[in-house]
Amino acid sequence: MSFEKTSILFLGATGYIGGSVLARLLEHPNAETFDITIFLRDVKKAGIAESKFGLKAVVGTLAEEDKIESLAEGAHVVFSCSVNAILCGLRKRHATIGDLPILIHTSGTGVLRDTAKGMYATDTIYDDTNADQIEALPDAQLHREIDVTIVEADKQGYLKTYIVLPSTIYGRPVNPLVEAGFQKTVSIQIPALIRASIARGQSGVVGKGLAIWPSVDNEEVADLYIKLFDSVVANPDQVGHGREGYFFGESGEHTWGDISKAIGKALVELGHGKDEEPTTFTPGELVKYFGSEVNGNSLGSNSRCRGNRSRSLGWKPKKTTQDMLASVKPEVERILEALGQSQK
Ligand SMILES: NC(=O)c1ccc[n+]([C@@H]2O[C@H](COP(=O)([O-])OP(=O)(O)OC[C@H]3O[C@@H](n4cnc5c(N)ncnc54)[C@H](OP(=O)(O)O)[C@@H]3O)[C@@H](O)[C@H]2O)c1
Repeated sequence: MSFEKTSILFLGATGYIGGSVLARLLEHPNAETFDITIFLRDVKKAGIAESKFGLKAVVGTLAEEDKIESLAEGAHVVFSCSVNAILCGLRKRHATIGDLPILIHTSGTGVLRDTAKGMYATDTIYDDTNADQIEALPDAQLHREIDVTIVEADKQGYLKTYIVLPSTIYGRPVNPLVEAGFQKTVSIQIPALIRASIARGQSGVVGKGLAIWPSVDNEEVADLYIKLFDSVVANPDQVGHGREGYFFGESGEHTWGDISKAIGKALVELGHGKDEEPTTFTPGELVKYFGSEVNGNSLGSNSRCRGNRSRSLGWKPKKTTQDMLASVKPEVERILEALGQSQK
């Protein structure tokens, strides 16, 4: 009897999220049945992937759609962040091989964000089991254009799509990919607030810091991808896909003010500042530290949700908002160290 391995294409393997998911695939009980190809732009890391982890590595950038398309054509499962070429490849695969490829895409709860600018908390809470509610999101929302393209592809019937939407991810992953210098270990939002606060000498906050976001630990959100992957492979008919295939990654909520207070406290404790109390970023500071007012104000938006569909897979995140807040001081210490400013 011939035995075919599950061909998996992985984009974003060197990333903060992707590395943690890939590390889990490498230690998965069925790892021997996986034939994993990663697509990445760093030649040195491609060498590490091949020599240390036995992966196939193809070097290229996301602009090289032809390469991605042909890799996707060879994959039954894709973990992705470059959508058009992947959809083209999977469509061709379905036409020639006839199987139903699986696309696990990363979006983000940024798709839910509003324009509160830190001035209020919203009562609107999105539920990943409520497809109508998600479908009503305006097309102009962050991530939305790609999410809609993916769900449309699922409707066409040549693949099944699953979209994971992590929230504010925190914590530093620990795994062999990190030890090998292959995976990034720094998240986006909290580190950005920390770097800005260090630069201005006092913790900053957007508006009054009243708006609310969810958070999730890096290792626990990686568990969600694996729960999803295992469920889709084992019981494809029992897992929603397409418009029913959104999975929020959240395990607690914070106000942005809570994070800024934790940063202020940590900075004072570490000898970097005299006043723990955050002050409001000026419009000029939003541009200076976050690239634009829109980017900066994102850290004062609301994005409330419940991952009920995620939990229906058996995903059980244990970390809470308190764990997230406790992760702030070590993150401040690591960033100070990286900036060469540990000693004050
Ligand atoms: N971190 C969070 O809190 C969070 C929360 C929700 C959603 N998200 C979303 O999740 C996605 C991944 O986030 P992350 O935190 O894991 O980011 P990250 O650490 O920056 O990882 C991004 C990955 O994509 C690869 N990549 C980016 N541009 C590329 C290009 N032009 N060609 C080839 N590869 C490219 C990077 O490769 P290199 O290593 O070569 O740069 C890296 O592997 C993003 O879309 C982000 O918006 C993140």
